Amino acid sequence: DKDEAAKSWEAEWSLLPHGEASQIDGITLEKQTCSLWEKIWAFQARPDDLLIASYPKAGTTWTQEIVDLIQNDGDVEKSRRSPIQQRQPFLECTRDPQPKGVDQADAMPSPRTLKTHLPVQLVPPSFWEKNCKVIYVARNAKDNMVSYYHFQRMNKRLPDPGSWDEYFEVFLAGKVIWGSWFEHVKNWWRKKDSHPILYIFYEDMLKDPKREIRKVIEFLGKNLKEEVLDKIVYHTSFDVMKNNPMTNYTHDKHLNYKLSPFMRKGIMGDWKNQFTEAQNKKFNEDYEKHMADTSLTFCMEP
Ligand code: A3P
Repeated sequence: DKDEAAKSWEAEWSLLPHGEASQIDGITLEKQTCSLWEKIWAFQARPDDLLIASYPKAGTTWTQEIVDLIQNDGDVEKSRRSPIQQRQPFLECTRDPQPKGVDQADAMPSPRTLKTHLPVQLVPPSFWEKNCKVIYVARNAKDNMVSYYHFQRMNKRLPDPGSWDEYFEVFLAGKVIWGSWFEHVKNWWRKKDSHPILYIFYEDMLKDPKREIRKVIEFLGKNLKEEVLDKIVYHTSFDVMKNNPMTNYTHDKHLNYKLSPFMRKGIMGDWKNQFTEAQNKKFNEDYEKHMADTSLTFCMEP
């Protein structure tokens, strides 16, 4: 029965080992991604591909679902056709011995929407050669870090995050999977000067989802009625996505949503519940140093 199934699933999860890390060009990535790197780097983008890029836990899934609904003119049933990770292949995702995201994308008819967390310098060059459109979503560093910590606790594909205090240091040193938050957001920000990149912010989406979704619609060259826009705002709200099995990752056996759900809190300012005063001070000092050479700014306060 259901209870038994849940129990055996949890027992299976607890037996899974945590993922391991390795490096490509000084960037920490999943070991499996590194071992299949040549294939990922050689990926052939098509000119009408759309790439959704982000640092992990910045609001990727939210942006993905918004994009999918826009592409389907707000048809909710169409967007519920399959889990989000099947609708939009995750480029650097691997399942030994295959580069799963690349294989999935290769088999997909155009136009395709793909997802990546790669820092901009590790994005396969064909995306730039084909001048593909990119939507980059960024989230304030403190909430991003807290969300990532809880995600690593529940996700066996990633390394064990250890204690919060340990994680805090590893994150600030840029040694988590997908590298330094600082370098990620800054380098993608710089890239938009020379490529068609729509750079949006998680906090703006929370504050005024309608305005931000309008930006995406315009960027994709779509024209949707006001009522369709309202429908998309509703169907991509936190509570609706949390209860939608096609967006809440409850199908993924590597993720223990009982330990910490994928759709965890969906708020701004949760870092205040996690950071000690001393950590906040250290963080702010580091932040100033890292962000001195960019025009990019973030709102940290709710
Ligand atoms: P929290 O852990 O802070 O709750 P990603 O999709 O990049 O992995 O990001 C996941 C984060 O985005 C989680 O943050 C999740 O709750 C939040 N999120 C997902 N969908 C959301 C939505 N519709 N509205 C607000 N936050 C959302």
